[in-house]
Amino acid sequence: MNLNERIPNNVNLSEDKRLQRALEKWLPNFLAWWHDMGPQGFQEKDVWLRTAVDVGSEGWAHFDYVKMPEYRWGIFLEPAQPDARVGFGDNYGAPAYQEVPGEFRNALRRIIVTQGDTEPASVEQQRQLGHTCPSLYDLRNLFQVNVEEGRHLWAMVYLLHGYFGRDGRDEADALLERRSGNPDKPRILEAFNQPCDDWLNFYAFTMFTDRDGKYQLSALAESGFEPLARTCRFMLTEEAHHMFVGDTGLSRVVKRTAQLMKENEDVREPGGIPLHIIQKYINFWFSYSLDLFGGEISSNSADFFAAGLKGRFKEQEQYTDHVATEGSFTMMVIDNGQLVPREVPLRNALNEILRGEYVKDCEKGLARWNKVLSDEGLPQRLYLPSVRFHRHVGEYSGHYFDLEGNLISKEEFEAKQTELLPTAADREYVRSLMKPVTEPGKIANWIAPPASGIKGKPFEFEYVRI
Ligand SMILES: [Fe+2]
Ligand SMILES: [Fe+2]
Repeated sequence: MNLNERIPNNVNLSEDKRLQRALEKWLPNFLAWWHDMGPQGFQEKDVWLRTAVDVGSEGWAHFDYVKMPEYRWGIFLEPAQPDARVGFGDNYGAPAYQEVPGEFRNALRRIIVTQGDTEPASVEQQRQLGHTCPSLYDLRNLFQVNVEEGRHLWAMVYLLHGYFGRDGRDEADALLERRSGNPDKPRILEAFNQPCDDWLNFYAFTMFTDRDGKYQLSALAESGFEPLARTCRFMLTEEAHHMFVGDTGLSRVVKRTAQLMKENEDVREPGGIPLHIIQKYINFWFSYSLDLFGGEISSNSADFFAAGLKGRFKEQEQYTDHVATEGSFTMMVIDNGQLVPREVPLRNALNEILRGEYVKDCEKGLARWNKVLSDEGLPQRLYLPSVRFHRHVGEYSGHYFDLEGNLISKEEFEAKQTELLPTAADREYVRSLMKPVTEPGKIANWIAPPASGIKGKPFEFEYVRI
């Protein structure tokens, strides 16, 4: 592990002068981007952050005060496994690819660029949130997520520079040029162009959208292109914290709302967030996050799997047939204005299968939040909408569905849209609650404190020195 180089890394960067020079040239551009588009304010503040000092189980989570621009952006890959093999697809069992196979070059670059683009995008989406943090604990978590997304960008840029030559360098530059929500140069995926300008959005985003990241990274963590697999495996260790922030954040909002509901007819009076607004935020971010898995029936997914580039969730652990040329999967599609079942070859259904794993995982979050409601003695429950609701990609886009997944007309949808998705007034109300609380141990009124602090520190700890 070379921690003291300009670019900390465990890939022996100093032995590859060409790559080192290329990345050192990219570094000031990254810092300029971080300065312009990273968290606004707080750059000179000490933040109690987790920094990787080693990829081993002991070293990857070292905690200390760091100023964000001095965070160790670097390139950390899980150690190579001896005799790694392609774990699925047409080349199942062949030696893993250590270089980019020519015939898969475009597909692989597309996968890496699409993943890489989400990392800076989310930092851009969240850049204003520091000014309205509900507590120092939450502020620190926001910044932890932000610096790690910055490092994930580094990981993808390393692959582009290291394995794709000139067009890889161009793609790495473009990752710093697109801007979330900018109509002229938007980020690639739509969820990453949506505003994330209040903390309810932030928790829903880290719960649902970062969780898509978990499934994409897991599918790539067993890639036959070994450098990508090793990169993704290390990123997954960090991603778990992002989802924790979202899951527990929403749980704390639900808890506070439940407490206020017991004493108030309308929780808006004491400044709480009504359950129905929370539900609408869930509907919004869940549906946009489902789109990130791609079309239900997909020849791309079949090609990526055949090539051994992108597998299924826990491919080695969960499956015995890693070739998957036989078998089929039945899903609901629209045919002649009707919802009907259709059987498709297994390899063409892999996006849908990965999405199904994701939905199961999200349901566990809902169960935890509903337990909070029942523990507080309330009969109300939160739920996930149907996977068909409010989709912009795949079989269901261009059609209208209610929350249960029934096909409805455009007029019916529009008539009840204000009950299904956050309205301008809902967003306005939530934003009106977002007043910064930066005294150690204090917390905003619309959210409950966490059950415990970070890494053994109490909630009252000064997580950010303001
Ligand atoms: Fe990430
Ligand atoms: Fe993340």
